[in-house]
Amino acid sequence: MRIDVLTLFPQVFESPLSCSILKRAQDEGIVEVVLTDIRDFATDNYRKVDDKPYGGGPGMVMMPGPVFACFEHVQKLSPEKGRVILLTPQGQRFDQRKATELSKERRLILIAGRYEGFDERIRIGLDAEQTSIGDYVLNGGELAAMVIIDAVVRLLPGALGDEDSAKDDSFSQGLLEYPQYTRPEVFRGMKVPDILLSGDHGKIAEWRKQQAIERTRKWRPDLLEDSK
Ligand code: ADE
Repeated sequence: MRIDVLTLFPQVFESPLSCSILKRAQDEGIVEVVLTDIRDFATDNYRKVDDKPYGGGPGMVMMPGPVFACFEHVQKLSPEKGRVILLTPQGQRFDQRKATELSKERRLILIAGRYEGFDERIRIGLDAEQTSIGDYVLNGGELAAMVIIDAVVRLLPGALGDEDSAKDDSFSQGLLEYPQYTRPEVFRGMKVPDILLSGDHGKIAEWRKQQAIERTRKWRPDLLEDSK
């Protein structure tokens, strides 16, 4: 997969992309992430990318010119057309189902905005789908884009050491994940459930499924409603 990110702050992405699973996935050629600075496509001497809103009001709006020029440049970097996603709190809510859907694409083009928002002609002209990572307002789309990259890359074949690891993740079956334990067997008086030490894989699988259902009912009953 190739992921292009259009942003005014490429440096926001550098640390998360340079460690752990995301680093390994790039080193192994499972994903290529290319950051492009929208400001490089500003046309005036001040490298201006935002301006006051027509009609008045607080804050600044991202100008269409630099974003269009940046997008047109990025699109030509690869023959794959790509799925174009604008990060905005006005978008459809990102979830595990969406992560799975995006993980099947060959190319994503993520556009992160700053300031009070994008000039409306950016959304219309680029025919971009809008995605939000939750009902709260961030200072910009960068962290939202990073969340999407993280959630999508772990689903790419080979990205996790163990092929099965993502299958049991919370939400992947519409349920929270079952409880996990590792050594020691007893910690501060709390014991690992006997069933996990029994070696009976059928019973363990059954217990885990029950636990997943129980926790979901207790902590996130909305997930059970959603799957009906
Ligand atoms: N930009 C600002 N807030 C956002 C959010 N919640 N999701 C995606 N992009 C954003």
